[in-house]
Amino acid sequence: MIKKIAIIGGGNLGTAIARGLVSSVKPFDGEIVVTRRRVHLIKSLEEFGIVVGQDNVGAVKNADLVILAVKPFQLEDILAEIEPALSDKALLISLAAGVDARQISDMASGRKSIFRVMPNTAISIGESMTCVSSYEATEEQEAVIRDLFEPTGIVQFIPEELMASATVLAACGIAFALRFIRAATQGGVEIGFGSDLALKIASQTVKGAAELIIRGETHPEAEIDKVTTPRGITISGLNEMEHQGFSSALIKGLITSFEKIENGSKKK
Ligand SMILES: NC(=O)c1ccc[n+]([C@@H]2O[C@H](COP(=O)([O-])OP(=O)(O)OC[C@H]3O[C@@H](n4cnc5c(N)ncnc54)[C@H](OP(=O)(O)O)[C@@H]3O)[C@@H](O)[C@H]2O)c1
Repeated sequence: MIKKIAIIGGGNLGTAIARGLVSSVKPFDGEIVVTRRRVHLIKSLEEFGIVVGQDNVGAVKNADLVILAVKPFQLEDILAEIEPALSDKALLISLAAGVDARQISDMASGRKSIFRVMPNTAISIGESMTCVSSYEATEEQEAVIRDLFEPTGIVQFIPEELMASATVLAACGIAFALRFIRAATQGGVEIGFGSDLALKIASQTVKGAAELIIRGETHPEAEIDKVTTPRGITISGLNEMEHQGFSSALIKGLITSFEKIENGSKKK
């Protein structure tokens, strides 16, 4: 039973997780502590009942679960700082892209029960796609992690060797999908809408398209077939996009991000 969670690194993802955990359908009702050096930037979390501070060692004391939400290059120093204060039973979760569980274990005096969790920023509104891999953990511990993150979106356990791919498809993927929405909005303005209305129409349309797939267990191409009549306007626009490299640009972008992780880059 998880009673205290420490999130070390209250940046984009650390705060999104904290907010997701307290505002989900089944909110976490224990204590959540979030740390960062410039703590004034996360004071607003206090209104959700989250404790904020700068003291990493104090935060992890008695914590059942410690989420490392710092940049990958900061992991080693942070682990050296907090490891002596970790309880034996504490589960360690790393969000760091590109740092494998064995490396984390080595940085943490050979600890076991390590999870790599790759959510995306939609975790703050309970709509994350969260991929998880476990290292030297029991099935019970895996169930604890699943139960914790399931109210914040969809949780999928995957082999660790797919974590880099998950980072690209789900975490970077948020940016890729948002760029689609922005581009559609810009096009919408060109064809007559004010930007606010274009944004509303473009984003609800993307949401609807995703829901068709998620709820209908159908395939994108089957849904596309339903809206592309012969010699019609949709197929003309779609084919023009493909002539301009639409699918190819997306696939190449995914591969470029993936290669950057594989080449040991520390930036997403
Ligand atoms: N953003 C995403 O969508 C996403 C998705 C999946 C995974 N990730 C991974 O999640 C991790 C965090 O990413 P992010 O985008 O949230 O980065 P970020 O916004 O830069 O957050 C990192 C935070 O760590 C804090 N920090 C640095 N040193 C610290 C220390 N000694 N003690 C406590 N806090 C410290 C920083 O705040 P101060 O400078 O104020 O200390 C900063 O707020 C990365 O490893 C990234 O690979 C991110």
